[in-house]
Amino acid sequence: MDLPMKAWVIAHNGAPAKALSLRTVSAPRPPRRAEVLVRVTHAALNPADHAYLKVIPSWLPNRWGAATGLDFAGEVVAAGPDVPAGSPVGKGAKVCGALSVPLVFWGAGSLAEYVTVPAALVVPQPEGWGGARSAGGFGVASQTAHIMVKAAGGRGRLGPGARVMVIGASGGVGSVLVQVASNLGAEVVGVCSAGNHEMVQKLGAAEMVDYTAHNPLPKHLAQEYGSRQFDFIFDCVGSHHIYVGSPAYLKPEGAFINIAGDPANAIGIMAGLFLPRFLGGVPRRYKMLALSPSGDNAREVAKWVQDGLLKEILIDSEYSMDDAVKVSL
Ligand SMILES: NC(=O)c1ccc[n+]([C@@H]2O[C@H](COP(=O)([O-])OP(=O)(O)OC[C@H]3O[C@@H](n4cnc5c(N)ncnc54)[C@H](OP(=O)(O)O)[C@@H]3O)[C@@H](O)[C@H]2O)c1
Repeated sequence: MDLPMKAWVIAHNGAPAKALSLRTVSAPRPPRRAEVLVRVTHAALNPADHAYLKVIPSWLPNRWGAATGLDFAGEVVAAGPDVPAGSPVGKGAKVCGALSVPLVFWGAGSLAEYVTVPAALVVPQPEGWGGARSAGGFGVASQTAHIMVKAAGGRGRLGPGARVMVIGASGGVGSVLVQVASNLGAEVVGVCSAGNHEMVQKLGAAEMVDYTAHNPLPKHLAQEYGSRQFDFIFDCVGSHHIYVGSPAYLKPEGAFINIAGDPANAIGIMAGLFLPRFLGGVPRRYKMLALSPSGDNAREVAKWVQDGLLKEILIDSEYSMDDAVKVSL
């Protein structure tokens, strides 16, 4: 493609307003083999995007002038020769997904008018979802929820009778977990601030805990749930103290599944992963997960949508491309 395009590129380290600059850059090369060129209509941002802007130094050669952003939705405007005619993600298809980390690392982020990606990375947008919902619903948050459910042993472990706690239930990842687990039949307790309780209950949570109202929170959880222990605790916040106290409210055969590693808790996380019980390790299984966005994950999310397990994608606000830096994460 010869045309230039607009993209938000990294100019400094820091929060989006400081780090990003809207520039005219070269559009991606035409798709080769089994690639597709997508005209991006919507991008969704995650805490990971913010961390990438703040933490990775801008003097690295791959970052200078690189477009950022992982999640996207849009329309396929050109397809490589190996994308079969009539493919559901071929030319003209409305698609969505999350870019792989290497693509973003080398500057092909989704805060741009076009991206060239492997066709296997994208899935068709669900009927009637539109671009905003699809960008938010098939990207990092839902794909992370998928790997958490997989780490719990899959859908079969979250059916009727299962008891699940979701910490950070009102967030991008937590709101998906609440829906999927409750629609599978599990009894879900959500943890977030009181102002979001009603919203999370509408998504399917049976009970809510306000983490701001109880100090220390593990003591409250022990009192409230000691006789109704959980099979799984999904931690989308990095609540190491809740893991440490978990023998009082997580079944011995249960698992604590965490995605948010606060660097301040690095030692605690390593202890959770490696410290044996006889040396004082917490006697509960601990899993720390890291997402690698992929088309396979997006297709698993598509199955949740097809099966009616994932229906709502929380959209707080939408901005035009020119105003993208006004997004607060
Ligand atoms: N490991 C990975 O591969 C991976 C992938 C995706 C995300 N993450 C990480 O996972 C975390 C969640 O991501 P997200 O996209 O869901 O973020 P998010 O949309 O910002 O949601 C976080 C939620 O946590 C709630 N919260 C804040 N402090 C809390 C606390 N002490 N106890 C309970 N809830 C609390 C907030 O709700 P209230 O306002 O209601 O309190 C907020 O809605 C982030 O740290 C992100 O970096 C990791």
